[in-house]
Amino acid sequence: MSNDGVNAGRRRFLVAATSVVGAAGAVGAAVPFVGSWFPSAKAKAAGAPVKVNISKIEPGQQMVAEWRGQPVFVVRRTEETLAGLDKLQGAVADPQSEASEQPAYVDPKFRSIKPELLILVGLCTHLGCAPSYRPEVAAADLGADWLGGYFCPCHGSKYDMAGRVYKGQPAPLNLPVPPHSYETDDVIIIGVDQESA
Ligand code: FES
Repeated sequence: MSNDGVNAGRRRFLVAATSVVGAAGAVGAAVPFVGSWFPSAKAKAAGAPVKVNISKIEPGQQMVAEWRGQPVFVVRRTEETLAGLDKLQGAVADPQSEASEQPAYVDPKFRSIKPELLILVGLCTHLGCAPSYRPEVAAADLGADWLGGYFCPCHGSKYDMAGRVYKGQPAPLNLPVPPHSYETDDVIIIGVDQESA
């Protein structure tokens, strides 16, 4: 008797579940396929994830994507750049990004999932200007010990090639690392965490 009750309940559940799947399928079919890959401007501003093809970024180059209406810097760092990060441990304000925004799954030393590929929200943590990408070592205007990084034109904050702010700058924190993940070696998704990808 009780078994009948359970079975009847289960049948009702299966019927209901099938109806829901059917309805979702119909809705999905009615939406143009392209819509699910290229979210509208409104959806992007509201926070929809953004896919970025990074295959064309040469070592040392940066490309700028957009996510939630903010610039996102994507840089392919060189071996020399990565080696230079160690030398700056004592020069930057938050070397391990303990106070700064970055997902738990990035390597704290490189601030990235893959050492060479740095992904940062491109807004200065002082008052939100867009810092300039200045990868050239010993740039004349930034000093002989400059190993490359970012310079904010608004009030002069300097960041290294991991987006870590130097000590004594107007900006208090490192440039944030946004949630991101790899769909393939060439495609990243900004706004989707690596763990849930
Ligand atoms: S906004 Fe960048 S230093 Fe002030």
